[in-house]
Amino acid sequence: MLEAPVVSSPALPLAGRHIVLGLSGGVACYKAADFARELVKAGATVQVVMTDAACQFITPVTMQALTNRPVFTSQWDARESNHMPHINLTRGAHAVVVAPASADFIAKLAQGRADELLSLMCLARPRETVPLLVAPAMNREMWAHPATQRNVAQVKADGATVLGPAAGDQACGEIGDGRMLEAHELRDELTAFFQPKVLAGRSVLVTAGPTFEAIDPVRGITNHSSGKMGFAIARAAAEAGAQVTLVAGPVHLATPRGVRRIDVMSAEQMLAAVLPEAKRHEVFVATAAVADWRPASAATQKIKKDGSGQVPMLAFVENPDILATVARLPAGERPFCVGFAAESHDIVRHAREKLARKGVPLIVANNGPATFGRDDNALVLVDAAGERELPPGDKLSLARALVAEVALRVLPQRA
Ligand code: C5P
Repeated sequence: MLEAPVVSSPALPLAGRHIVLGLSGGVACYKAADFARELVKAGATVQVVMTDAACQFITPVTMQALTNRPVFTSQWDARESNHMPHINLTRGAHAVVVAPASADFIAKLAQGRADELLSLMCLARPRETVPLLVAPAMNREMWAHPATQRNVAQVKADGATVLGPAAGDQACGEIGDGRMLEAHELRDELTAFFQPKVLAGRSVLVTAGPTFEAIDPVRGITNHSSGKMGFAIARAAAEAGAQVTLVAGPVHLATPRGVRRIDVMSAEQMLAAVLPEAKRHEVFVATAAVADWRPASAATQKIKKDGSGQVPMLAFVENPDILATVARLPAGERPFCVGFAAESHDIVRHAREKLARKGVPLIVANNGPATFGRDDNALVLVDAAGERELPPGDKLSLARALVAEVALRVLPQRA
């Protein structure tokens, strides 16, 4: 029987996914409750399995209430008619996530031990179709111990994905590596895990947001770009397996996980940040709404009104075109360049002009005034071969579709 395709949306990024959530013993079990809630809110169905040690930290009652499913804690559970919960629970699941994964539990995984339901179930899962993800949670000394590091390396070699751990304050009062990732971080990691790795091993540079061109120390000119499209592209590229650098103008957006971010203010600063990076990246996506002009010179002190009614005259100079500059780099240093065109009318005609003027292989056209600051958008891809519309949608779904299109264009051509 063919499985129904999993269709997700940013509101329900895990819709249609069935996740087996395993809890081993650790204080971080309290975060697992929140994680279960995040999974359910993201559209997943969640089956919880807990070790005895996990039940010392949080009750199955809580986990059952949050997931709306009875929790399994024992391989002797008679509720399964064939008496085989360790087999039945993973069949049809899209992933097993063990969060928290204690040092002891990781050691068991590394050795293939199976003396209670959770480890038994991990061992008995179909490895080809049900991936295992583990979120370690332990004291920093336990994490740093060579035995744990050896076990983690073994578990990875056996095909598991290790999420985190993070560094920071620990329940024991010490500070260091070993904290379990937060619930929303685990949710985003799992969402990213399910994205196709079409840019694995590739590198992508993105500019995003407006620029701010100073008039004096307290004023400047800027625009309404929110940076959301560029940040969505950076996130989608990272989810697709690329190494991503994001050069961002002044915006109030969280950096997508796994993305390296460089903050700038002006167009000149953006160019200075982009140029050395462009030579190190294979793809450059310019989404920034770079100001066309800047004041010829920024006053070092606040320009005061003097009561005379005279308005100060500002002289402007043109800003460098960052995209065109990168597109002119010599072959070998030049990434595959993707430009954006925010237009209010004749969208495709203007995009085609821009393709030629900037010397780039792909322009993504959108309706600028209609999309600034919004979460949804509609895009038209314009290149030498023609035009292709990406159906209207939220910016993250469009970013994923665009990343897939870019991947097709930068993949080595098959003979
Ligand atoms: O020329 P225009 O601003 O319409 O072109 C838009 C495209 O060029 C976008 O991809 C934008 O990020 C990029 N651009 C740039 N540097 C500029 C102006 C635009 O990189 N100074």
